[in-house]
Amino acid sequence: MENALNFIQENKDKFLNELIELLKIPSVSADPAYANDVKKTAEFLEAEFNRIGLDAVEVIPTKGHPIVYAEKIIDTNLPTVLVYGHYDVQPADPIELWTSPPYEPVIKKTDIHPEGAIFARGACDDKGQMYMHVKAVEAMLSTNELPCNVKFMIEGEEEVGSENLETFIKANVEKLKADVILVSDTGMIAKDVPSITTGLRGLSYVEVEVTGPNRDLHSGLYGGAVANPINILNKMIAALHDDNNHIAIPNFYDDVVELSADERAEMAKAPFSESDYKKALEINSTYGEAGYSTPERASIRPTLDVNGIWGGYIGEGAKTVIPSKAFAKISMRLVPNQDPDKITNLFKTHFEAMAPEGVSVKVTPHHGGEPSVTQIDSLEYKAASLAVEESFGKKPVPVRSGGSIPIVAMFEKVLGLKTILLGFGLDSDAIHSPNEHFGLFNYYKGIETIPLFYKHYAQIKK
Ligand code: BES
Ligand code: MN
Ligand code: MN
Repeated sequence: MENALNFIQENKDKFLNELIELLKIPSVSADPAYANDVKKTAEFLEAEFNRIGLDAVEVIPTKGHPIVYAEKIIDTNLPTVLVYGHYDVQPADPIELWTSPPYEPVIKKTDIHPEGAIFARGACDDKGQMYMHVKAVEAMLSTNELPCNVKFMIEGEEEVGSENLETFIKANVEKLKADVILVSDTGMIAKDVPSITTGLRGLSYVEVEVTGPNRDLHSGLYGGAVANPINILNKMIAALHDDNNHIAIPNFYDDVVELSADERAEMAKAPFSESDYKKALEINSTYGEAGYSTPERASIRPTLDVNGIWGGYIGEGAKTVIPSKAFAKISMRLVPNQDPDKITNLFKTHFEAMAPEGVSVKVTPHHGGEPSVTQIDSLEYKAASLAVEESFGKKPVPVRSGGSIPIVAMFEKVLGLKTILLGFGLDSDAIHSPNEHFGLFNYYKGIETIPLFYKHYAQIKK
């Protein structure tokens, strides 16, 4: 890999400028107003895949946004790495909280990144991280050092549930034949504490609507005599957790895999500072389920959170009104072996049954996703661990993450493949938030580590 690694050192500026161009295109998958930009981003990747010398490059249309596919099969006897990532991004709003425009990437220094970080929507999640793979493969191809076959499958709908990718995978099992899936769409503990993600939470997402009277009412004439849907909705939401912050939906925990004392002790060895955590968020205390530590609450335990709530009058000044309706979006993060459909149904049944006389309740399910866990005794994990150790000079810590990439469970189910989650983001990168950024250190370290995975994986599979 010596030449490929040298190639990376010699092309750092070029690799950064190319990422900047990619980040300028606002590929927001959730908002139809950006559909054309999403398409442009797919075409940017198509051109790039062709330029670096990949074969079978294709922008594959779906019912939603396109999937970009490319491959290099150097020898059918060699193992094949299937790289997955996403080129779509979350909406940038609230736009007024950005210190520089989200689609005008700039390099700024931060306390954590004194050498600079690139600020833009998608810088870390996932354009920057996905693009590390393009650059790493470019380096290996340019120097004739690619030791495995490679396939790229980059989608434009991860942030909206990957529904069309699921259909594509089911219809293309043969095309996607590989030995392992490699993904950089997660994080690591710190710049000097490398880690490999060994678990992701699943997701069940619902929208609820509480309806009271058939029209908005004068709160003086009717107040006190009819149910106010906002008051009721808040009461119902408050009753979804008990005093220990356990989720109070009957049978919610039935399928939750509890970790053994040994597993929890192992987990507690990963470096974590409660005070740094609080300081970074400017909170005076953490909050959560009784009996579990902060890292446990945020990874191996399920959650229920309101993501948005609205209704009534929220304009300037005061309006005395009892609204006819109130709404909320609620998400539940799931852990092995909770099933998203089952959980959604448990929620629906319980929430509807909770409604007092005087209101009606509607629960509408949104997209969901299954949780996943990876074993650390597999060949692919060993290769990833060796690669990280070689590039950071330290063995990586296995960590379960609280985030979700639902398609990972599908990879296992439909393709029978294990996924290596080799992420280089940091919690402080502000993904999905204003001022998202990605450290230059992390970007380059990722590009350097990826070829080492190919090297170790090819050796291990011999
Ligand atoms: N890349 C994230 C997930 C992630 C981030 C996992 C950091 C682990 C560490 C992904 O793009 C994402 O945001 N997923 C969504 C779920 C999706 C169904 C919208 C999430 O976790 O909310
Ligand atoms: Mn992502
Ligand atoms: Mn995301």
